[in-house]
Amino acid sequence: MTQSPDRPGKPFLYVVVCAAGIAGDVARLITAAQDQGWGVGVVATPQALGFIDATAIEGQTGYPIRSAWRLPSEPRPLPPSDAIAVAPATFNTINKWAAGISDTLALGILCEAYGFGIPTAALPYLNSAQAAHPAYQQSLARLREMGVLIGSYEPHQPKAGGGADRFRWEEALELLHPVVEARR
Ligand SMILES: Cc1cc2nc3c(=O)[nH]c(=O)nc-3n(C[C@H](O)[C@H](O)[C@H](O)COP(=O)(O)O)c2cc1C
Repeated sequence: MTQSPDRPGKPFLYVVVCAAGIAGDVARLITAAQDQGWGVGVVATPQALGFIDATAIEGQTGYPIRSAWRLPSEPRPLPPSDAIAVAPATFNTINKWAAGISDTLALGILCEAYGFGIPTAALPYLNSAQAAHPAYQQSLARLREMGVLIGSYEPHQPKAGGGADRFRWEEALELLHPVVEARR
């Protein structure tokens, strides 16, 4: 029997974290979501585990970080999600998600979210050399067609230290809010 933790009395947000330089600040999104009444669970790509403070995040959310598939005999560590925020979303994960590749747990959750109709927002964080690849614009277009809400971050210059001051973690919640409200 593979039971999930009880559905908490509040809506539950999955924050999918990818391996971008800014991922270490994901606590800001978790805090903002919790302040707005969400329960939060974090799903990290395997590469992203090297960018985040797993112990601190687990303390903040009260749930284990998920990164690998569980064994069939193991219980589900997180309640089901009411919405998903992918932040930061890497070039790699955006392209694989749009192509239907499911070789990380994070991608597996994202690929299935479309079929389940789970509201999903993604905040890409990448540089302009990555964004120039033709596959990237095609991936964004496909994700938009799927109903994924895409953040407004303009890619930073390569090797220029990123644009953390311009990256608004709260935008994920702003994008999701009307969709989630309309379902209530
Ligand atoms: C220090 C460092 C910073 C990185 N920053 C970014 C980034 O901002 N955006 C991005 O798309 N990739 C970035 N990468 C490359 C990704 O980590 C790499 O493509 C990785 O395979 C992404 O894995 P994931 O999509 O499964 O998380 C960075 C890599 C390193 C080592």
